[in-house]
Amino acid sequence: MRKLLMQATVLDNMRLTPTVNTLRILAPEIAAQALPGQFVHIKVAAGIQPLLRRPFSIADIHAEQGTLTVIYRIVGEGTALMSSFSPGDTIDVMGPLGQGFRLMGERPLLVGGGMGIAPLLLLAKALCPRPVYVLMGGRTQEEMFWPPLFQNVCESIHIATDDGSLGRCGTALDMLPEVLEQNKIDVVYTCGPRVMMEGVAKAAAEMGIPCQVSLEEHMACGVGACLSCTCAASDGTRRKICSDGPVFWAEEVFL
Ligand SMILES: Cc1cc2nc3c(=O)[nH]c(=O)nc-3n(C[C@H](O)[C@H](O)[C@H](O)COP(=O)(O)OP(=O)(O)OC[C@H]3O[C@@H](n4cnc5c(N)ncnc54)[C@H](O)[C@@H]3O)c2cc1C
Ligand code: FES
Repeated sequence: MRKLLMQATVLDNMRLTPTVNTLRILAPEIAAQALPGQFVHIKVAAGIQPLLRRPFSIADIHAEQGTLTVIYRIVGEGTALMSSFSPGDTIDVMGPLGQGFRLMGERPLLVGGGMGIAPLLLLAKALCPRPVYVLMGGRTQEEMFWPPLFQNVCESIHIATDDGSLGRCGTALDMLPEVLEQNKIDVVYTCGPRVMMEGVAKAAAEMGIPCQVSLEEHMACGVGACLSCTCAASDGTRRKICSDGPVFWAEEVFL
């Protein structure tokens, strides 16, 4: 697959919550090739500051229209600059990058936490027409803006919030055993906080269910050249999250 560096046009950059935006861009060449689990590396300002691009999962694509969507939380300098992108702006985007999810199984479960839910949206679409089950966790109801985005692409959505303001009170991990069993899940995909993904991987392994995890790390080049994003693999070697991942088999990096 070719990695593309292109000038994309901002179509909209809408506020979903006070700290989360959805950015839709016209990037036909990237949209035509992108796979679920891959990411784009966005230059957030025209000059040399900030120097580094920022990585974002591809949350949706419409290949026919040539559009691509990322959903991002405003956490620092780069994402604050992105929040000022306006329709018609031209931005510098590299992608699609990394290795995506391998589509498999008949009854997949997608387990997401926080902004890690973003890549699961495109994955859920790609897995259709299989019955897709989704389990999502977040701190509060305000963070749980995701269910309407998933409702047309999945069989059922299970929600856990830390304070019980939406869905079950607790974490996604608390609900996992019953969701796995009741729905006869045969493959698990997960993205979110590391501690959540480790728990998901362990539970899946105990039930003999294959599991893919999407890792996150600070990135510089995004294409495997600088080694700033490496993580330890289970065999004692190291993996580059940007180019060997971000999606790995759970046993490759966790178990
Ligand atoms: C493959 C990949 C996919 C991602 N997809 C999404 C996504 O879909 N939506 C989304 O909101 N965010 C996503 N992120 C995280 C996003 O890249 C960072 O939030 C963003 O780069 C922060 O930039 P900033 O300049 O605003 O923040 P900075 O000023 O650089 O940092 C602000 C805070 O965010 C933390 N942070 C910065 N970069 C990362 C990172 N890569 N991982 C974890 N924490 C980080 C910093 O430690 C700091 O606490 C993804 C990261 C990776 C590696
Ligand atoms: S970010 Fe440079 S090798 Fe991964």
